[in-house]
Amino acid sequence: MELQLWRELLDPYQLAVDELIVKFNHVIQEHRNRGIYSPIESVDGRLKSIVSIMDKMQRKDVSMNDIEEKIEDLAGIRITCQFVEDIDRVVVMIKNRTDMSVKYEKDYVRHMKASGYRSYHMIVIYPVNTIKGTKNLSVEIQIRTMAMNFWATIEHSLQYKYKENIPQYIQQKLLDVSEVILDMDHEMSVVRDEIMDAQNSHHRKENLVRDILNNIQNLYKIANTQEVEKIQDEFYRIYVLDDLVQLDHFSKQLDIISEGYRAQSLN
Ligand code: GTP
Ligand code: MG
Repeated sequence: MELQLWRELLDPYQLAVDELIVKFNHVIQEHRNRGIYSPIESVDGRLKSIVSIMDKMQRKDVSMNDIEEKIEDLAGIRITCQFVEDIDRVVVMIKNRTDMSVKYEKDYVRHMKASGYRSYHMIVIYPVNTIKGTKNLSVEIQIRTMAMNFWATIEHSLQYKYKENIPQYIQQKLLDVSEVILDMDHEMSVVRDEIMDAQNSHHRKENLVRDILNNIQNLYKIANTQEVEKIQDEFYRIYVLDDLVQLDHFSKQLDIISEGYRAQSLN
């Protein structure tokens, strides 16, 4: 196949990857802006390289005409979570979305592969709008914890190095480590609530400080400088107390003060 034809074939898949990365990153952002824990820690994606596509065609005996139907990971999205429990939440979230529909799923989290690989796979149908109209594409979404990702990344590099003939003792080592990682994910779940609390309050604090600083900056435009400086000093005094309740109270009061000034300046 000519390079130009490859490009035409793959262009819509690149679009799907780009769009989905933006969308899932926005899910993270929406959680952070509300000061709540995000089940998605990070998102990554890639268009399958032509070399990998040709290798897979050979391996699975796929003809040129069947590429789009038979190779379902031309567009690949990887969602990383902090905790095992987050994976199911992400799966539900994806099922509830109206911009994609699930074709099928593979749960290698509950059913580990013989290699020791764990991850939740969803093949979804995702429509993209191209200059030739709408195309419904298959996209592979892999959802895994950071620990699972660590294992899969290392194992994948070894597969490359040994061209899928990983020596027996290394295979055994990988299996042993995958057990350790399974334990680790479960052990970490015990402290999940604590960690979620800590992260929530960190984001709440960041959001509050951002709002307060915005408010103070705007006050400089409409209020007496000395008064604003007094407010700013009060903010620093409260900030060092490291008490979210007081910071929240201060922020609300500042809202009222700002509102008052704004009403005055309008009159
Ligand atoms: P592929 O031909 O690799 O697509 O396998 P498949 O069509 O049977 O699908 P499967 O769900 O098993 O694998 C899809 C993808 O998951 C692969 O392309 C890899 O990215 C990943 N994967 C599956 N098994 C393993 C594994 O044992 N190790 C690693 N590192 N990744 C794996
Ligand atoms: Mg596959």
